[in-house]
Amino acid sequence: MKSNLETRIFKTPVELFEGAAKEFAEVAEHAIRHHGRFCVVLSGGSTPKGLYSLLATGKFAIPWEHIFFFWGDERHVPPNHPESNYRMACEAMLSKVPVPPGNIFRIHSEEKDAALAAQQYQQTIIDFFGLTPATLPRFDLVLLGIGTEGHTASLFPDTAALAERSKLVVANWVEKLNTDRITLTLPVLNHAAEILFLVSGNEKAAIVKEILEGETALIPAQRVRPSDGKLLWLLDEAAASGLSTCQRVG
Ligand code: 6PG
Repeated sequence: MKSNLETRIFKTPVELFEGAAKEFAEVAEHAIRHHGRFCVVLSGGSTPKGLYSLLATGKFAIPWEHIFFFWGDERHVPPNHPESNYRMACEAMLSKVPVPPGNIFRIHSEEKDAALAAQQYQQTIIDFFGLTPATLPRFDLVLLGIGTEGHTASLFPDTAALAERSKLVVANWVEKLNTDRITLTLPVLNHAAEILFLVSGNEKAAIVKEILEGETALIPAQRVRPSDGKLLWLLDEAAASGLSTCQRVG
C-alpha cells in the first residue's frame, strides 16, 4: 500500500490504547469545535475493548454529550448476544459514560432478515445526516480493525459487499462463518474525515505487512482509503513486527 497514510507504532498494547484514546479525544474536540458534534463509527471484535475501557475511565476529557455513536458492522445476533459488537461497546464504555441514549445508533441486528436490518440502518444514517439520494455521510472518525485474512468491518475477502458502490449499508453473507453480517460499505468508509485502524498482537503481523508493504491492493483493508481524509494505522510492536521499517512512536 503506497502511503499517504500515517503509521504510528507503540511498544505495548497499553501504549497503543493510550495513543488511540489521545487521537479519539483530539478528533472529537476538533469536530465539536468545528461543527458542533462528533460522529464516530465504532469497530467491533476484541481489540477495541482496550480503547473503549480506557476512554470510560475519565482519564481523557471527552465531551460525551456532543458525541454520536454508530457501528461499522454488526454480527447478525441480538444486542444482548455475547458476540454483539454493540454489547461489547456498551459493557466496555457506553454504559459507564454520560452519553445521551439518543446519541447511540445501534444496528438492529435482532431483525431476522439481515437485509432489512441493513436497510433500516441505512435509513437511520440518511435521516441523521439529512442525506439526499447519492450523497454520502461524512463521519468524523471511523474506527476499524483487521482480521488475520485482511477483512475490515464485515468486508471479508471474496464477499459481495466489497463490490457495493451505491448502498450505505448491506447484509453480507460470509461463507466461512456461515452467517450474515451487517456492514457499512466502502463508499461510506472512504468518505470519512479520518479512518483509524487499531491493530494489536503478533497474529496480525503477517497481514499488516502484506497490507502496508505488499504489492497487491486486493485485500479488503487495503481498499479503505479515504478520498479526502486522514488514514491512520495505530499498531503495537507485535502487530508491526513484520514491517521492514519499524519506527516506534510511543
Ligand atoms: C467484527 C469487527 C471486525 C474486527 C476484526 C478484528 O465485527 O469482528 O468489526 O472487523 O475489527 O475481526 O477483530 P479482533 O480485534 O477481535 O482481532
